[in-house]
Amino acid sequence: MLDEILNKIQECNNLDQLETIRVETLGKKGSLTQEFAKMKTIPGPEKKAFAENLNKQKAAVTEALDEKKVVLEKEALEIKLQSEKIDVTRFNNELSCGATHPVVETMNRIITYFQNLNFAVEEGPLVEDDFHNFEALNLPKYHPARDMQDTFYNKDYTLLRTHTSPVQIRTMLSQSTPIRMIAPGTVFRRDFDITHTPMFHQIEALVVEDGDHISFANLKHVLVEFLHHMFGDVDVRFRPSFFPFTEPSAEVDISCVFCKGDGCRVCSHTGWLEVLGCGIVDQNVFKAVGYEGKSGYAFGLGVERFAMLIHSIGDLRSLFESDTRLIGQFK
Ligand code: DAH
Repeated sequence: MLDEILNKIQECNNLDQLETIRVETLGKKGSLTQEFAKMKTIPGPEKKAFAENLNKQKAAVTEALDEKKVVLEKEALEIKLQSEKIDVTRFNNELSCGATHPVVETMNRIITYFQNLNFAVEEGPLVEDDFHNFEALNLPKYHPARDMQDTFYNKDYTLLRTHTSPVQIRTMLSQSTPIRMIAPGTVFRRDFDITHTPMFHQIEALVVEDGDHISFANLKHVLVEFLHHMFGDVDVRFRPSFFPFTEPSAEVDISCVFCKGDGCRVCSHTGWLEVLGCGIVDQNVFKAVGYEGKSGYAFGLGVERFAMLIHSIGDLRSLFESDTRLIGQFK
């Protein structure tokens, strides 16, 4: 019987099976344990030898079980280590990837378009002074048109720029003609509702040359081409308007991208959407920067408005709520 048990232990190849063998031999009802119960029936003189023999068998089985257990445990650990091996150098292809914010994407698209037309990209400070933001743009103190721009003033009489137009002034003061520039950037106004946020983005454009040959026709051509590039096959119309820094001035509409001009809630049933302001640079602006005798055109647009029309985004504020569900759609 002992050989049979030792053989079984020898051939066993997993820990569960080994435990079964232990229970079958040394457990409460195990075969060896049962042998000990026979002691009672063994006649006196033979008891000692019988017991000694049984104890030897028990010791041999216990030793074989213990040895085998060590071997099997070591094997099991090896298998576990192999299967749980981590390759720290492996690249995780499932990393979730960010997306470009629709405002940034729209801004980049517009910048690239005008860079291809040889416009330079200029920048100016967000904290401006009265001269660059208003005065030099033909907006003297107490001029009623200042009310159009709900300005954030600082205690030291500086202000947060209300538009990107001051970059026109800075560029003309530091460069000479010909000028062909755009100025993308952040602007600020005290306004907050479905169509206004206190911080938003504009792109300004300015073209100036010596003499008087820059005309409204140049401006019109550049803008119609640009709006077709951005919105596809839309109608474009120029509506007479007023800006202090341009004369004549116009606001530019495109046929509604949602209803194709039939009239809907977005275009207030007019069939038209206003997309930018423009005009021929007012001579008073040229006077403020010592540019008398030159001619030019300028325009300014709101980047958020473009992004919303291109991507059919309903509420301007959703662009700034940092909800990844919005920007996740632009991967
Ligand atoms: N600065 C104007 C605004 O913020 C936009 C604008 C209109 C810019 C006409 C221009 C322009 O350069 O010619 O409302």
